[in-house]
Amino acid sequence: MSGVAVTKGNTAPGTDDALVVLKNVNKHFGALHVLRDIDLTIRRGEVVVVIGPSGSGKSTLCRAINRLEAIDSGEIAIDGRPLPAEGRELAALRADVGMVFQSFNLFAHRTVLQNVTLGQIKVRKKDKKEAEDRARALLERVGVTTQADKYPAQLSGGQQQRVAIARALAMEPKVMLFDEPTSALDPEMINEVLEVMQQLARDGMTMVVVTHEMGFARSAANRVVFMSDGRIVEETTPDEFFTNPRSDRAKDFLSKILHH
Ligand SMILES: Nc1ncnc2c1ncn2[C@@H]1O[C@H](COP(=O)(O)OP(=O)(O)OP(=O)(O)O)[C@@H](O)[C@H]1O
Ligand SMILES: [Mg+2]
Repeated sequence: MSGVAVTKGNTAPGTDDALVVLKNVNKHFGALHVLRDIDLTIRRGEVVVVIGPSGSGKSTLCRAINRLEAIDSGEIAIDGRPLPAEGRELAALRADVGMVFQSFNLFAHRTVLQNVTLGQIKVRKKDKKEAEDRARALLERVGVTTQADKYPAQLSGGQQQRVAIARALAMEPKVMLFDEPTSALDPEMINEVLEVMQQLARDGMTMVVVTHEMGFARSAANRVVFMSDGRIVEETTPDEFFTNPRSDRAKDFLSKILHH
């Protein structure tokens, strides 16, 4: 039931263009079983929105994909290669898998430009000029060019999140993970971040997005994955999910978020 109904951007879904593959993944925190037999394949250029109640394992799923959390059993592969456990290969994996979190996590003592430049120099081994040129182009793409020489604390939350997106993109990631990137933002700043994400989706970026922003899910997602108690309970098109959720848990969840 993981069919992709919509062909987006310049990508043609097929069986051989799986980019992120999770097979039978399990994860415990002590006695708590937080990821249960997770099977999930994300294709190149696909946008997958993950939703579900608090504590259902959405963040843990994201953190497992770039190995901020180790898993207990199962397999995760990115672009055909199993996740490395440590060392230089792990650093390369982290660069391939861009991540934007709920809380703004820019380097506080670096300027905006430095935030978007450092990883390129250290991990991608670019020279300073090349890194800065790319950083400025990305800052323009996310609409914060004029903030380049400021420090993160001098920016609004929405601007900081857009810089965080630029910083992740600077590494030329194969896939971008977003874990509730707008849920700590004041309402007027949510759209400016969602618009950057919409554009990224249209440009063909492969994205996994944990969000309760239903407008974004409906317009940008190829697929919605609904999690509950560590399991993937439903996996379908946004249209199908929002108009015709099958499980009681999804129905219950939707009634709460749509009518609150
Ligand atoms: N480091 C940790 N140690 C122990 N338990 C944890 C840890 N991280 C998460 N958990 C627990 O694992 C479960 C899943 O957490 P997770 O953060 O993945 O949920 P979530 O779906 O992202 O929730 P939310 O919508 O609130 O962000 C929760 O019960 C949580 O309390
Ligand atoms: Mg979470």
